[in-house]
Amino acid sequence: MTGLDKELSVGERENFMHGLLAFTKEHKAAHWLGTLDEFLDKVLPTDPQGIVRTSHQYLWDMIRWTRHDQCDGQLSTGLFADELFGLDESIERVVDYFRAAAAGSEVGRRLLLLLGPPSGGKSTLVILLKRGLEEYSYTNAGALYGIKGCPVHESPLHLIPHILRPSFCETYGVDISGEICPYCRMRLDQEFQENFLKMPVERIFISEAGRSGIGTYAPHDPTTADLADLFGSADLSKVAEFGDEGDPRAWSWSGAVYAASRGMLEMIEILKVKREFLYLLLTLTQEKNVKVSRFPLIYLDETIIAHELGGSGGQARPQSGAPIQRR
Ligand SMILES: Nc1ncnc2c1ncn2[C@@H]1O[C@H](COP(=O)(O)OP(=O)(O)OP(=O)(O)O)[C@@H](O)[C@H]1O
Ligand SMILES: [Mg+2]
Ligand SMILES: [Zn+2]
Repeated sequence: MTGLDKELSVGERENFMHGLLAFTKEHKAAHWLGTLDEFLDKVLPTDPQGIVRTSHQYLWDMIRWTRHDQCDGQLSTGLFADELFGLDESIERVVDYFRAAAAGSEVGRRLLLLLGPPSGGKSTLVILLKRGLEEYSYTNAGALYGIKGCPVHESPLHLIPHILRPSFCETYGVDISGEICPYCRMRLDQEFQENFLKMPVERIFISEAGRSGIGTYAPHDPTTADLADLFGSADLSKVAEFGDEGDPRAWSWSGAVYAASRGMLEMIEILKVKREFLYLLLTLTQEKNVKVSRFPLIYLDETIIAHELGGSGGQARPQSGAPIQRR
């Protein structure tokens, strides 16, 4: 190694260390923790529109955030640009799906199915969306807030009682959709004596490893495929403690649909999933809720993306059965 080489590599290392420090600083600075009244006072007024975004709108904003102008004035989807080649048409259809769903079109009530031959780039496309979400959630524009301790990291605005929602809408100019989950409902009652303004709120970050905003489900052997992997189950060790299987604290919220709340649920080989699961997923996409054993309906807002091996040749093709997909 020559002296110059060595100098360069030291410089590079220093650069990398600087980058690393800036990264940790930025990530630390971004954290926020407070009560609902502090949230309503300090955070919400800065960007009410951004805070009430649905998962589809959030994904669409993330995709737009990665887009940049090309020299010919066209927009290119930066998210996929460096990894997937020759799939422009398919990618554009996926992007169209998010554009329409974010605008409130009916396609948002359907799941997105990527169909194509082996090694056609389906998994890669989903991975890029997941990494994009994780990165975006650290930016100011991508700030997401949730009730601290909530198993589905739900929006703190779910705490606002229905009777106050019309005046909320008048004040902030945005609508609230969604219901509080059974777990927070019970906590509000037992820990906070219904004083919802004191419930803790924090900034949340999308993380696949942290099971926050990204859930993945892959069917294993169909005979043992377990509803619990997707929708959770009663946690028997806690049932003894709380004395009731219907107690939300005795429920194991480890299912993929709960992890995916606020972000996206990846369903690998969805056509191998049992029919009864598909009914539940259908309700989840159409009505934004799931019904499990002894709980009332649980409101969940998430985008479902499935991929599947296709029999025929060709590229990965997004299918949602939606009118916008036919040109
Ligand atoms: N259009 C593409 N441009 C660049 N690389 C690609 C493209 N399509 C696939 N690849 C590469 O091929 C490999 C396999 O792709 P990937 O796993 O995404 O395919 P898949 O459609 O999920 O396949 P399978 O159906 O077997 O799960 C990856 O390393 C990916 O980067
Ligand atoms: Mg794959
Ligand atoms: Zn909750």
